[in-house]
Amino acid sequence: MRITDTSDLWWKNAVVYCLDVETFFDADGDGVGDLQGLAERIDYLAEMGVTCLWLMPFYPTPDRDDGYDVSDHYGVDRRLGSLGDLVELVRTARDRGIRVIADLVVNHTSDQHPWFKEARKSTDNPFRDFYVWRADEPPDTSGQVVFPGQEDSIWEHDERTGEWYLHRFYKHQPDLNVANPVVRDEIAKVMGFWLQTGLSGFRVDAVPFLLETLLERNADDFADPHGYLRSLRRFLQRRTGDAVLLGEVNLPYDKQVDYFGGEDGDELTMQFDFVGMQAMYLSLARQDAGPLADALRRRPVVSPDTQWANFVRNHDELTLDQLSEEERQEVFAAFGPEERMQIYGRGLKRRLPPMLDGDPRRVRMVYSLLFSLPGTPVLYYGEEIGMGEDLDAPGRHAVRTPMQWTAEENAGFSTAPARRLVSPVVTGGFGPQHVNVADQKRDPDSLWSFITRLAQRYRQCPELGWGAYEILEQPHAQVLAHRCTWDDASVVALHNLGPDPVTVPLRLGDVGPGCTLADLLQEGGCELAEGGAAEVLLDGYGFRWLRVRRPGDRRLL
Ligand code: NOJ
Repeated sequence: MRITDTSDLWWKNAVVYCLDVETFFDADGDGVGDLQGLAERIDYLAEMGVTCLWLMPFYPTPDRDDGYDVSDHYGVDRRLGSLGDLVELVRTARDRGIRVIADLVVNHTSDQHPWFKEARKSTDNPFRDFYVWRADEPPDTSGQVVFPGQEDSIWEHDERTGEWYLHRFYKHQPDLNVANPVVRDEIAKVMGFWLQTGLSGFRVDAVPFLLETLLERNADDFADPHGYLRSLRRFLQRRTGDAVLLGEVNLPYDKQVDYFGGEDGDELTMQFDFVGMQAMYLSLARQDAGPLADALRRRPVVSPDTQWANFVRNHDELTLDQLSEEERQEVFAAFGPEERMQIYGRGLKRRLPPMLDGDPRRVRMVYSLLFSLPGTPVLYYGEEIGMGEDLDAPGRHAVRTPMQWTAEENAGFSTAPARRLVSPVVTGGFGPQHVNVADQKRDPDSLWSFITRLAQRYRQCPELGWGAYEILEQPHAQVLAHRCTWDDASVVALHNLGPDPVTVPLRLGDVGPGCTLADLLQEGGCELAEGGAAEVLLDGYGFRWLRVRRPGDRRLL
């Protein structure tokens, strides 16, 4: 293991934390979180062991899709602060060892973007070709909409010019025409601008749709649409050598490989593991590690410079779209049986702890899994304290409630009157009286303290992010046993998805005489017998991280 490599490809063992500035911390008391407030909470993130902060869109926006409808790619939403505040935040974060990345939303703009306002003026407007138009009546595309029930076509008729424009998402989000080289230049300029403010890269929204537009519009200069992704990556790297593209590509593994650029690894630097996430929920629902183990076995080995990003929750619906109908219904039955908990017929509106009836053993087991799975963990704000959702909030807003800092009024998020808050605070058993940062930070046994410990241990075990991994054979269906190995460093992680204690027989094979297993999350460990054999006890919903120690091993435990 070469520890110095980890500062080079920093994203391979980063601890990523995603938040929306408007719901995190309100410093000026207007009911909306802001950049100044976030800057005041940077030390909180640093203390937790976060090394990369992902900011959801903070750009000027009519806010009809929570900021994913951008009306100016070069600005900051005035409610959140100024460009100056952003730069101050990035500097402060960097000082605390935290890199900042931001959403890059360039598949579409808001219909209030000046480009679109111009484009819809006439068919010969210079901006017309910034978007995708058709003159003939579109066929039925109701099966292609991303938000079923909200839209019924991906084409919208524009009264003024009598043509239809493409919008994969809401009708107020016209798709940009990336087949137009002028649009591609604009996108590069946007990236260049934000890199100049000190960002370390982007979470790239809706990547497959971007490339689809290229393919459908037959961009002359890109016979292969992936060529465009390669050129974006080259541009990024020319401007900021160590910046990353973390792509949203919710596709089967064999397609995702292409978005990494195959063996060359010259497209997206990182991708979320949507397949693994969905398999994990199926495993949790069945209390059978099989689906997750199977996903990990199928997960393609990608170029050493690229990385998988693991997650339990994000800001959207908890999508289960890659499961079969039967599997999805199993997860619905286990974790979201009521219709109001489900959304778009494919996902859940809930956060993890309520789905697990608040059972701390299971919640901790899942986060132990998140941090021990091969790859880079991504937390969504509030997960570290076990926040719940607001099922009365419309759609995906259920999980976009204010951060719960204290048990005080408005969860300590804002001093504004409650009616002026950007969204209501969660009430009931997961409300701030029971779930808040202030209480948990002072309690060594809290979920926050546990997650902080996991983040610390994850950072001390770069083999989890860097290593090759294998699923270890053992007889218990409810147990996931995997091992990550990077050169001479090796960690075994065991997770019991079932309620009953089990003893797991391990055979580590290649481990020589005198080796031991040392627990990393609790005191203890065990001797390894001939052939690396050990019997390891797991509580119901228990988990253990065990480092293989060789005689003379000088790594600190
Ligand atoms: C994916 C984002 O995660 C989601 O929140 C957004 O609505 C769509 N892309 C459109 O930008």
